Amino acid sequence: MSNNFRVFHMANRLKIFNIVGARPNLVKIAPLMCEMGKHVSIQPILLHTGQHYDERLSDVFFRQMGIPTPDFNLEVGSGSHAWQTAEILKRIEPLLVENKPDLVLVVGDVNSTLAASLASVKLGIPVAHVEAGLRSFDRTMPEEINRVLTDALADHLFVTEEDAIGNLLKEGRPRNRIHLIGNVMIDALHQFLSLAQKSNIGSELGLLNGNGFVPFAVLTLHRPSNVDSMQTLEKLLSAIDAVAEELPVIFPVHPRTESRLKDASVKHHPRLRLIPPVGYLDFLCLLDRSSLVLTDSGGIQEETTALGVPCLTLRENTERPITVTEGTNQLVGQDPLKIVTAAREILAGKPKGGRVPQLWDGHAAERIVKILLREASSGTLTLNQLRTNNEEIIEEYYNRQRLHSALGYRSPEEFERKAEWQTES
Ligand code: UD1
Ligand code: UDP
Repeated sequence: MSNNFRVFHMANRLKIFNIVGARPNLVKIAPLMCEMGKHVSIQPILLHTGQHYDERLSDVFFRQMGIPTPDFNLEVGSGSHAWQTAEILKRIEPLLVENKPDLVLVVGDVNSTLAASLASVKLGIPVAHVEAGLRSFDRTMPEEINRVLTDALADHLFVTEEDAIGNLLKEGRPRNRIHLIGNVMIDALHQFLSLAQKSNIGSELGLLNGNGFVPFAVLTLHRPSNVDSMQTLEKLLSAIDAVAEELPVIFPVHPRTESRLKDASVKHHPRLRLIPPVGYLDFLCLLDRSSLVLTDSGGIQEETTALGVPCLTLRENTERPITVTEGTNQLVGQDPLKIVTAAREILAGKPKGGRVPQLWDGHAAERIVKILLREASSGTLTLNQLRTNNEEIIEEYYNRQRLHSALGYRSPEEFERKAEWQTES
């Protein structure tokens, strides 16, 4: 590394583009933005792709978690996987070219994570992936594809559990770029739990008696494999009806699931309470006070492990094996008998038990920022030089594109071919 590069970094703040798109990204970015804000040598910039846009899936998290208003919002909205990914690629590229971040930081495994990573590395901008290396080994999950591809692209890989290191090494990622740092989602939990415990959600949902919370369970479902087929969804809900015989089940319904349930004719147990998605503080309060959680969410498997609350995961696999080997999580799949039997065991006072994994201690964001600052000062974020070369080409491309589209051509090449023909004739 040349000395010039080091001087560049000392003299300039490290400009980090932080990418969010969907609900779980917001929970993960909150502690990172907070930590970056403590360092004058960092200029944190927040970009929302707009993959999630409803008040209850997006805005409420900004308000409750003190996440700064995004500097940019791509407002991409919903669409098919290819459409959504492509739209993010198209909309983010000019912003990256114009703003020249030193690093793009992505979290999790949603379409926004992959699209932002791909646009960045193609411009020569280094990418840091927080929550790298998780694998369900189930390629029918859209998130698994996003995880594998993002990790193949990223330069800095921050992992939450040991297994992730092995997964990344098997895929040929260099050991010195992989860092076990803990779990930023659990940082958020540590930061907000005492506030969440003051939430009124218990009384709003009639879950309180004179002595505090009555026993209740929480349910969330949004994986395509569970909710996209009406038959599967109804099978799962019939199992939940049996659980609701024992105690109230609070079910904040994800919009993907809501759109399926609208078509359903089946009546459910009156103690299975369908409510709209709730804000982070209310949801954390529900998780913390519940006797049992049934879910197919990635993040909720981790939060229940951190809280010591029994969790039944309605999936055949998990990309977060530590929540099973060390935590309170059990995989019960889609079989109603298995689901109901496991729930009854827990309610009979025989939960699996568990402990909190190593480094899930509320300091993951601190560790990430420390490593990034160290990498910057030692010059590992050297792809800046590559990007400088690329930048001229990109700018020229955009200028040509603006010109050709103003004239109604489909590509700069079509425009130029036309121009050549006109000169020849
Ligand atoms: C996405 C992620 C998933 C993550 C989940 C978190 C991908 C491939 N999937 O799934 O990994 O676990 O977010 O919640 O990135 N919709 C609304 N309002 C919104 C957003 C979406 O009504 O604000 C509806 C739309 O009809 C949309 C559907 O929900 O088509 C699905 O949204 P999408 O972001 O494509 O996938 P999710 O199922 O939310
Ligand atoms: N969550 C929330 N309100 C809800 C459901 C979930 O605040 O109604 C939070 C939850 O505590 C966790 C995150 O959203 O922090 C998980 O998001 P989701 O289950 O949508 O995504 P996944 O983790 O499966 O990708």
